[in-house]
Amino acid sequence: MFRALVVRMEDGRQQAGFEELDEAALPEADVTIRIQYSSLNYKDALAVTGQGRVLRNFPMVPGIDLAGTVVDGGSSGFSPGDSVLVTGNTVGEAHWGGYAQMARVRSAWVIPIPNGLDARRAMAIGTAGFTAMLSVMALEEHGLSPATADPVVVTGAGGGVGSAAVAILSHLGYRTAAVTGREELHGYLRALGAVDLLERREVATASTRGLEKERWAGAVDAVGGEMLAGLLRTMKYGASVAACGLAGGSTLNTTVFPFILRGVNLLGIDSDYCGRKRRLAAWQRLTTDLPAAALERMTSEIGLDEIFTASEQILAGAVRGRTVVRMDA
Ligand SMILES: NC(=O)c1ccc[n+]([C@@H]2O[C@H](COP(=O)([O-])OP(=O)(O)OC[C@H]3O[C@@H](n4cnc5c(N)ncnc54)[C@H](OP(=O)(O)O)[C@@H]3O)[C@@H](O)[C@H]2O)c1
Repeated sequence: MFRALVVRMEDGRQQAGFEELDEAALPEADVTIRIQYSSLNYKDALAVTGQGRVLRNFPMVPGIDLAGTVVDGGSSGFSPGDSVLVTGNTVGEAHWGGYAQMARVRSAWVIPIPNGLDARRAMAIGTAGFTAMLSVMALEEHGLSPATADPVVVTGAGGGVGSAAVAILSHLGYRTAAVTGREELHGYLRALGAVDLLERREVATASTRGLEKERWAGAVDAVGGEMLAGLLRTMKYGASVAACGLAGGSTLNTTVFPFILRGVNLLGIDSDYCGRKRRLAAWQRLTTDLPAAALERMTSEIGLDEIFTASEQILAGAVRGRTVVRMDA
């Protein structure tokens, strides 16, 4: 038997509660994992609270991230005792996810935890940190290099993706600018390596102009909406924005001028269906490019029982950095 957070659809409404389940209840797949840690992402909070239609079938165990030990690897090549992680791939949305002591998932989704990380650190990174790494990789592939003296900006910097992006970029030697709506996080963001601290309205202000003064050598945007539009107007010639989030809105009001007059690139970042080769490369880089001290500084830990409260807090924009969820198997 194992404990799980199960979301059921009853009378057209999502109902979430803790249940004791038999292993036989797990979905069909080839790798069975005893989960040690999961994590809390923005999307998980939407799923747990029934907002945003994240869950695609019911009953569902939410939790888009999980890490633990293989119990049964079938003929997949994974062996009992292997330390593994899973993020995305519809886990916690259409396939039972990480808010349980056990999971059964497809081997194609399973990543061996790289040397230098353990289950807790892997979940401190989780989908948010993985997305930050994918964003930085995309910027580099489009020409960003630490040789630039111009700042690289991160929006939603106090959140999970943002904190990880600030820490990675700073570690790689970029002058990192952090946009946050929370002045009380300035000290925290400086400790992660941010040099310039900006209020949200310094970037996210509605404008009728197509272009404004060039400022940024690159950008990781977790916010969308007016923030993304403001970034596009202020990117340096030929620079790129990695667009990975919508914490501030899913619409984009822009003109084509940043693209056709400054050669600005808008790069889409998806962590969910990202291919395996790129996934492995990103996790490998996370072992070196996101220093352990920064990761620990940005991480809080909760038990599974605290998931409802923490979900409300992250949706209210009140969570700093990353939250790991301990399974207490
Ligand atoms: N593309 C992908 O594959 C992928 C993967 C992971 C996450 N995401 C998306 O990325 C975003 C961030 O995820 P997360 O897990 O890091 O969430 P998070 O921890 O809640 O961080 C979001 C941050 O955005 C800022 N923010 C919130 N509301 C805002 C608003 N109305 N206007 C401007 N800024 C606002 C806040 O930072 P400050 O208080 O510091 O301003 C907040 O901490 C979410 O939209 C999520 O869905 C996408």
